[in-house]
Parts: sequence; C-alpha cells; structure tokens
Amino acid sequence: MEDLIVWEDRYSVGINLIDDQHKQLIQMTNDLYLACFKDSGEAKQHFINVIHNALDYIRIHFSTEEQIMEKIEYPGLAAHKKEHEKFVHQILVNAKDFEEGSHKAPAVLAKYLKDWIVSHIAVEDKQYYFFIKSHNKQV
Ligand SMILES: [Fe+2]
Repeated sequence: MEDLIVWEDRYSVGINLIDDQHKQLIQMTNDLYLACFKDSGEAKQHFINVIHNALDYIRIHFSTEEQIMEKIEYPGLAAHKKEHEKFVHQILVNAKDFEEGSHKAPAVLAKYLKDWIVSHIAVEDKQYYFFIKSHNKQV
C-alpha cells in the first residue's frame, strides 16, 4: 500500500531540526493510516496507541517550533500557536470518537491529519521561513 503522505523538498522550512520533526510526523501519519485498515480488537488498541504516541510527538514538535518563533520574534506567533492548539484539540476529539466506537473515525482522522499537515507545513510554517530569510534571523 502506498504512503498517504510523501515528503517533498518544497516542504522544507530551512531548519534541519524542524524538517526532521516534520518528516517524523509524516511517518507517524502514514503508520496511522495503515493502522486504519486492520479490523480487530488488537488493531483497535494499536490504533489508540499510535494516536497517543503521535499526540505526544506533536506536542514536542509544536513547542520546539514555538520556541524558535519566540526567539526570532516572529509577529505571527500568537496566531500560529492558536492553529497548533486547534489541531491538538481536533485530534483529541477524533481519538475520543474512535475510543467510543465510531468506525469511521480512523479514516477520517488519517485524512484530517494528512490535509492539516500538508497545508500547515507548506503554508503556515513556510511563513516563518520567509520571515527568517527576509529579516536575516539566526535560528
Ligand atoms: Fe507549525
């Protein structure tokens, strides 16, 4: 089965640490997507574990990004933080739906993750990349 998301060079934000974290997030989303297609009690537990691991990782990643944005005095920090918070909230809602028995939840969640990750990385995260470049900031 093909991966749901494939890393592309155009996603780079010019900071190796962040690019590596984004690659890891993409990997986790692909694992989550694969886990959607297995249907058993064990698979369900696996899916829940994958979601929680992904959430832990996402929180670490967001705080890394927010620290960098603070350091460079990025003017879009508050709005960007809000986007991060909304995203974590949405994942928690989806994970809860799944744990409460919604069978549609895994595929919906994987799709949501894909759309969010691709658009967030390629659009919102790219904004601080442009800011760093145009203001000659050191990260
Ligand atoms: Fe971000």
